[in-house]
Amino acid sequence: MITSVLKYILAFQVVAISMIGSFSFAQEASLSVKNGASLYAKNCSTCHGSGMKNPQWGFNLEIFPIDQKMRFMDSVIYGKNAMPPWEDVLSIEEVSNIWSYFLSLR
Ligand code: HEC
Repeated sequence: MITSVLKYILAFQVVAISMIGSFSFAQEASLSVKNGASLYAKNCSTCHGSGMKNPQWGFNLEIFPIDQKMRFMDSVIYGKNAMPPWEDVLSIEEVSNIWSYFLSLR
């Protein structure tokens, strides 16, 4: 009897802990999208268009491949042709947040 009660409590705790874990993961993910959106609006939208649409003259990010995060990170951090490097302005984590925002639009 006691062991089955204990088992029940234990099982409940495991479920509770895994729920907390996935909740904070989802919350963290949406925070990085939010952060990425505001960093994008401030630093990138003048050339790439607001909401990554209708760019004034920069590359159209709507056609950037969603499976090339490394290329995205590299081009943004070190610059590419007419695009200046962002390594002195944004941290790697911030560029990664912009990538999360980019993915959220697809
Ligand atoms: C001064 C204008 C300008 C700003 C500001 C700017 N870009 Fe760019 N970006 C460009 C241009 C121009 C290109 C095209 C480079 C090329 O391929 O010749 C480009 C290309 C890119 C590419 C494609 C690179 C590739 O590998 O093909 C990505 C991704 C990108 N920009 C992301 C960003 C992000 C994120 C920001 C903000 C942190 C940003 N850009 C800010 C002008 C800009």
